[in-house]
Amino acid sequence: MRIVCVEDYRRLSVIAADIVVELMQAKPDAVLGLATGSTPIGLYRELVRREREGQVDCSHATTFNLDEYLGLPEEHPQSYRHFMEEHLFGRLRRRPRKTYIPPSLPDDLDEACRAYEERIREHGGIDLQILGIGRNGHIGFNEPGSSLGSRTRPVALRPETIADNARFFSSPEEVPRYAITMGIGTILEARQIVLLASGLNKSEAVQQAVEGPITCQCPASALQMHPNVVMILDEEAASRLENLDYYRELEEARSRMAAILEEARRRTVRAS
Ligand code: F6R
Repeated sequence: MRIVCVEDYRRLSVIAADIVVELMQAKPDAVLGLATGSTPIGLYRELVRREREGQVDCSHATTFNLDEYLGLPEEHPQSYRHFMEEHLFGRLRRRPRKTYIPPSLPDDLDEACRAYEERIREHGGIDLQILGIGRNGHIGFNEPGSSLGSRTRPVALRPETIADNARFFSSPEEVPRYAITMGIGTILEARQIVLLASGLNKSEAVQQAVEGPITCQCPASALQMHPNVVMILDEEAASRLENLDYYRELEEARSRMAAILEEARRRTVRAS
């Protein structure tokens, strides 16, 4: 797990956009896994800006969102379909080729979940999954107690998640109690994962996810088992990490190592 600690939310969004754009330039038909919530809004804003400036083209990409509330019609202002249209899809000059979000009103719940997994498989799996993290360590809507091998399925939201998400609704009673989410096992199959966390209220979940035991009590801790995870954290979200100085040193070492190798290569070319 790479821990990248940056000064603020703006920088976090820029670095996340760099990773997405680099992938899209190398693989224009990439399959992206997307998240909703407050945290990725800066990333989406940055992607829209770069797309409009012609730095990146998303029109060959396919996207799969992590989750959707059950029971809200797509056009409801708080549905995740609506969120994605408002913050990303609807603002791009050219939309992604296909944008999948779990259905909010499926005829058959289990069949809809199975079909979502099948769609991901048909597209060759997710190249890059963007994640936020809940205060209770959830990823997607995999709340504490979700099994680490879980797949796309209907879930109930924990009271703390309902309370956190109430800020988007006029009252907590309006927050849907149920959702469909990709499972932890589904998320772990993505080839690369970028988790974004900003603010002091995420610091405990981040510390548990990075340095705590791998346990269903902190679903994000499952990411410790994944070979290609980057966590981009602002100062506040990173503030409780016990090994923070070491993670910083590792990141500095990466750039120093790159410079040393580059210099050595130049010397070899000159000598030959
Ligand atoms: C959203 C999602 C959630 C959020 C998490 C953090 O699709 O899957 O796991 O990433 O609840 O939300 P914010 O960013 O609003 O703090």
